[in-house]
Amino acid sequence: MAEGDLVVERALEAGCEPVVALVDELRPPPVTEHLLTRVPVYAGGERVRALVTKLGVPNSIVAIFRRPPRTTVEALAATAHRLVLVEAVDNPANIGAIIRNATGLGWDGMIVDTTSADPLARRSLRVSMGHAVVFPHARSTDVAATVAQLVAGGFAVAALTPDADATDIDEIAPPDRLVVCMGAERVGLSDDVLAAASLRVRIPMHHGVDSLNVAAATAIVCHALRRR
Ligand SMILES: C[S@@+](CC[C@H](N)C(=O)[O-])C[C@H]1O[C@@H](n2cnc3c(N)ncnc32)[C@H](O)[C@@H]1O
Repeated sequence: MAEGDLVVERALEAGCEPVVALVDELRPPPVTEHLLTRVPVYAGGERVRALVTKLGVPNSIVAIFRRPPRTTVEALAATAHRLVLVEAVDNPANIGAIIRNATGLGWDGMIVDTTSADPLARRSLRVSMGHAVVFPHARSTDVAATVAQLVAGGFAVAALTPDADATDIDEIAPPDRLVVCMGAERVGLSDDVLAAASLRVRIPMHHGVDSLNVAAATAIVCHALRRR
């Protein structure tokens, strides 16, 4: 389900197939025009739209799309130079923010483990401002094996960790092909991923702060280690 005219516009631009839509009966957004000829479009007042989304402030449009096919790790690795891998990032708002950051900073795609939130969940979609439908993502059922496979395929794989013994991000020369691994809010990356990665990288912390939110850390690393 996509909510908000921007998200619905992005889904249509990305070629996603709409199924049905519900719009503001008094002020349907301009994107409604593109849906009218393709799918049933219902009109409703604030109460109906709030009931559908369970949001306090209802969007002017809510639409259901068929889920676009997901790419594979192999297909991503064949062409990408910059990938983000997430392990156990289960909050869809963080996944959405990671996607918005990585897309905006020029990265090529994302690998998500099976315990992370779905990039196409409603909240991920909203927080990513709809970019989640465009930013390619693949699922890995065994992230440590995927990391080993990417290292063997010529990627530098950086495990991001606030550990004091990791290499300071300012000391890393951005490699040609890079994957950055981002971990869970509480426990961070698993020992298996830390062991399989080719380097461990830290963003120096100050004033007793032990770590950053995972989406904030992703924004920093995506900028600092961007392709030059
Ligand atoms: C809230 S942190 C997890 C903190 C956890 N206690 C740990 O030791 O990793 C969530 C994720 O963001 C990234 N991260 C946060 N702060 C970081 C830092 N200062 N340096 C490197 N990565 C960081 C890491 O990938 C981490 O797994």
